Amino acid sequence: MGLAIAQENNMGLMRRNCSMKRVFLILAGLLAIHIVVMTLFDIYRPPLTDFPDNEPGYGDCPACITRHPRKSNCKGCFPIAYPNILNNGKMCETGKSLDFMILIASEPEHVKHREAIRDSWVSKNAKYENVTFKYAFIMGLDHSNNTANANVLTEADTSNDIIQYNFVEHFRNDTIKGVLALNWAVQFCQNANILIKVDDDVFLNIPNLKDTLDKTPLDKTVAGHWLASRGPVRTEKSKAYVPYSYFPESSLPEYISSSMYLMTYETAVEVVKTVPDTPFFHLEGVYISFVIHKIGYGVKQLDGFNNFQVHPNPQYYCSCLTTSQELEPEDVTMIWDGMRLAGCTEQRVRCKTSYTPYIDVTWCRYWWWRHTIWLIAKWTFIITMCINIPLGGLLNYLGSRGVYLNALHKALYLGDTDGLVEHAKDGRSLRDIVSSNPPTLIKNV
Ligand SMILES: *[C@@H]1O[C@H](CO)[C@@H](O)[C@H](O)[C@H]1NC(C)=O
Ligand SMILES: *[C@@H]1O[C@H](CO)[C@@H](O)[C@H](O)[C@H]1NC(C)=O
Ligand SMILES: *[C@@H]1O[C@H](CO)[C@@H](O)[C@H](O)[C@H]1NC(C)=O
Repeated sequence: MGLAIAQENNMGLMRRNCSMKRVFLILAGLLAIHIVVMTLFDIYRPPLTDFPDNEPGYGDCPACITRHPRKSNCKGCFPIAYPNILNNGKMCETGKSLDFMILIASEPEHVKHREAIRDSWVSKNAKYENVTFKYAFIMGLDHSNNTANANVLTEADTSNDIIQYNFVEHFRNDTIKGVLALNWAVQFCQNANILIKVDDDVFLNIPNLKDTLDKTPLDKTVAGHWLASRGPVRTEKSKAYVPYSYFPESSLPEYISSSMYLMTYETAVEVVKTVPDTPFFHLEGVYISFVIHKIGYGVKQLDGFNNFQVHPNPQYYCSCLTTSQELEPEDVTMIWDGMRLAGCTEQRVRCKTSYTPYIDVTWCRYWWWRHTIWLIAKWTFIITMCINIPLGGLLNYLGSRGVYLNALHKALYLGDTDGLVEHAKDGRSLRDIVSSNPPTLIKNV
């Protein structure tokens, strides 16, 4: 009898070792597959050292993308020194304090964008209650269209709302434009409480912004559409391309979208002071965030700031939306007309409910598909391992104590799987087989 039990125990032990070996082999196999797949994805990622030759904006100037890694500090390497062409410096002199000074980044050729904005959300017809604001368009010089430059001078004569500096109009120079706008406002709009920078394809719901800011003071932050820290775009075709040799770090800081951001006048003073000692970076939102972090301030998300085009249905723009972007001038006009009909331009519309009829899918654009698949592979691996190893340990421990979660656990722990494998050939699931053939300790004895 004693011998029989000893034999039984030996058999159990042998089977257990055997089945554990199998489980480990399977795990090792999975690990090998994961490693191979991940290595393949690494190999097929685009090369990270690409650096285009003869591209505008690359070289060794204060506002250039250089061939060597960007430093985070310097002494006066990015002076805000571009000759002024159109100033209109008196536009803030109202003798009263202003809630907002709105700086709208435009381009000489964007005549229609400016017309649409003048006739809509900044227009005198918009009788926003209890909000005082001024706005100005800011731009550089078009180096390929002198007609456009000449037209700007005539346009400015009648509208008195254009600020122009002598720098080449180019998307890689947006940082220059943003910094010049803040610098200008710090100098000429000392009566403004908050400076806002928006692009000329943005719709800004000024009363909603006022409501939001009454609820959430800005303090020492730059606010707008917040974007989490993420890896730089390494695809050359993208406007947001960041060459590896210029910025080898694997992630950008958290930042705010450059299409609309705001800060208090006092923060802008600090920013303008810090810019000359902060080396240029061609992505405006990221640059502003470099500066802000250097000062020791933060960036934050505001309600209703949308970093994408909200469908141009006026109903949405009458609700709790604060910004929407990527709008054509015709869209802006249409939205405004619709809002007027609905009666939400004449008076302040109170946000009663947060109405979000859209889904923020912008993050998709920042991840090219290979990166996404790589991330999925990586996290599947990490999660699988994080679950498998402790779970395996737990099941093994329970088994050693003679405690089994179910029949399958028992069968696997005791290595009594031979019968199961045979039966599995008839197409039943392992679980079915186990529950219909509960394994027993002394089955084979
Ligand atoms: C504007 O201000 C006045 C006085 O503070 C206040 O009574 C009124 O409700 C305000 N209007 C809106 C739309 O906030
Ligand atoms: C130059 O600008 C003018 C006015 O903005 C525009 O009508 C014209 O089409 C532009 N020319 C070119 C070549 O883009
Ligand atoms: C940006 O502007 C500067 C100054 O005008 C100019 O030297 C540089 O080439 C411009 N960058 C691009 C990308 O055009």
